[in-house]
Amino acid sequence: MKPLPTSLTDLALIKPNPLQHAPITLSWFMSNNGKETLLLMGNAEHEIETPTLENEIQILEEFVELEVNNAQITWMIEFDKRVIGVAWIELTENHNVLPPSVHLMIGDKKYRGRGIGKTVMQSLIRYIKDYTDARVIYSRHLKSNVVVANMNHSLGFINDKAAYVDKNELEWQNIKLPI
Ligand SMILES: CC(C)(COP(=O)(O)OP(=O)(O)OC[C@H]1O[C@@H](n2cnc3c(N)ncnc32)[C@H](O)[C@@H]1OP(=O)(O)O)[C@@H](O)C(=O)NCCC(=O)NCCS
Repeated sequence: MKPLPTSLTDLALIKPNPLQHAPITLSWFMSNNGKETLLLMGNAEHEIETPTLENEIQILEEFVELEVNNAQITWMIEFDKRVIGVAWIELTENHNVLPPSVHLMIGDKKYRGRGIGKTVMQSLIRYIKDYTDARVIYSRHLKSNVVVANMNHSLGFINDKAAYVDKNELEWQNIKLPI
């Protein structure tokens, strides 16, 4: 599949290459902010393990395999020639979130708050409009994650039913965007 276009100069969405990209994803989770990022993504404290290169390779290989099985489409977020995050569209229901659902993480904290996340979301939404017959796009986030809640609200997402608490006592909000 070709890279996905974005509206920001220097920002590109490229396909994952497990061996090439795993050392980069590992560096995000090994940094001082790594644990905070995993918590923001909705990982429960007790589920967070020490990151390893093997595990990062495995996660990226799973992304590639999910794509082969038409279950997920994944892009690495490249800004100014550096891979700084990952974005994906799930094509099957997962954690009670209907497909297609959009997900995003800027792993390298210094690139947050610069308009990159919102621009990537706009590209994911455009992709779903152009290449699927979906009428609604879904996602979910921790209720406490104000940044992603603001970002999604500014893109037109609305709450989908009431917030709920999962088995790890984390409070989630499902959201949806009619298109
Ligand atoms: C959430 C995340 C993807 C947002 O991407 P980003 O590039 O930092 O956000 P942007 O700079 O594009 O800002 C998008 C919107 O978020 C909101 N926002 C950004 N920074 C914010 C902050 N510090 N406080 C409150 N709202 C903020 C604003 O509404 C902004 O839109 P606006 O500029 O039109 O007002 C990114 O911060 C991230 O990856 N965080 C860690 C992992 C995570 O939380 N992932 C989401 C899991 S569901």
